[in-house]
Amino acid sequence: MFFPSEPFRIKVVEPLRRTTREEREELIRKAGFNVFNLPAEAIYVDLLTDSGTSAMSDNQWAGLMLGDESYAGSRNYYHFEETVRDIFGFKHIIPTHQGRVAENLLFSTILKEGMVIPNNIHFDTTRANVEYNGGKALDLVIDEAYDPHIDHPFKGNIDLEKLERAVEEYGPERIPLVLLTITNNSGGGQPVSLENIRQTRQLLNKYGIPLFFDACRFAENCYFIKEREQGYQNKPIKEIAREIFSHGDGCTMSAKKDGLVNIGGFIGINNDELAAQITNRLILIEGFPTYGGLAGRDLEAISRGLQEVLNEDYLNYRISQVRHLGQMLEENQVPILKPIGGHAIYLNAREFLAHIPQHQYPAQALTVALYREAGIRAVEIGGLMFGHKDPQTGKEVYPELEMVRLAIPRRVYTTQHMVYVAEAISNIYRNREQVKGFKITYEAPVLRHFTVRLEEID
Ligand code: F0G
Repeated sequence: MFFPSEPFRIKVVEPLRRTTREEREELIRKAGFNVFNLPAEAIYVDLLTDSGTSAMSDNQWAGLMLGDESYAGSRNYYHFEETVRDIFGFKHIIPTHQGRVAENLLFSTILKEGMVIPNNIHFDTTRANVEYNGGKALDLVIDEAYDPHIDHPFKGNIDLEKLERAVEEYGPERIPLVLLTITNNSGGGQPVSLENIRQTRQLLNKYGIPLFFDACRFAENCYFIKEREQGYQNKPIKEIAREIFSHGDGCTMSAKKDGLVNIGGFIGINNDELAAQITNRLILIEGFPTYGGLAGRDLEAISRGLQEVLNEDYLNYRISQVRHLGQMLEENQVPILKPIGGHAIYLNAREFLAHIPQHQYPAQALTVALYREAGIRAVEIGGLMFGHKDPQTGKEVYPELEMVRLAIPRRVYTTQHMVYVAEAISNIYRNREQVKGFKITYEAPVLRHFTVRLEEID
């Protein structure tokens, strides 16, 4: 067995509390069987998200002490701008307090009713921000992405034929930009190849459509390119990143992922007029353009995090830790999405709980079982998150994939924690017939999975 060893040692520890099965039973019932409603202190290994949950380095913590909290022109902003421009290369760098604000600012500025945004797969907040602003969110990833068994090196690639068909169907004037999500979170944390990026760019050039990146996990995407794409084995990660973004007109970024911080984000953009419009809106809802909803110290932590995330020792450990967890599960025949992605393992709940029909939310049932069994929190990415009522027929439409995501926070848990998680899941798998389905008792009209309440079906 290959154990990824940590390229760091531990200087500060955060104690974890163990709960009993009885306590967990009571808590999950009180939470309406929705793990978003659980107090984090009642969780042993929290794999809800890799977003904003990273452990910062001593260098980042030191940077916090150098926070310049001036309202305008903070030195940390200049450092941030310089770092982001060095890696991403965009002309205007607009800070925001997290990724979805970047999305909201961008889409509320560029979208008009009836416009369309193609993407490989929209993350849920991205889709919601597109739709809320009158747009239509199209998921145009290659078909292989929807088959959890196909081992494709770049399963996050956008399908160029689907993209060209969409451009012809809607017309370039209704497509203000195309997004590429790197890595493709909702499709399993799968990377997009540089070849696919180049080809997308060429196609869009024909129609004069801008290309943007949803860059949350760009460094992990770069690592996969280095590992899998011909011609990149000897390239430094930063050079790969620069090459990716050289094909784009802008990006939205949640620094809560590959910025290695607990809060932060930005928009990178070349178009002067759009940048000015977005900046005006930023002042209205986030703050002055040199802090954008963040403290000066936060900007400093992002600058340092963005430099650390490009370190190959770090990325090798990061990707290997996730892969190691996946391999332990595979050894116990647990069905997972293949190949193993960058930031998370995705349990294939449809196969794991084949006895629970999709309208009884098998991925949610598995999420609840994980908490009950072992105090592990994961997130449902399936019928609850992406299911919705068809406005015409009123019938519930379900997504193709029914997954449970185990997102691994960066630099937080040890190999032993991963062994614990693998054992707990393998145990549930051996006793899977005991797991029951759920029905919804309350749901909100948008992003319902955050606040939904459920009842167990006997
Ligand atoms: N885009 C992608 C691909 C994401 O994964 C996320 C967040 C966002 C945009 C929004 O960024 O949270 O800073 O506002 N993903 C988190 C997750 C929440 O758990 O995958 P945010």
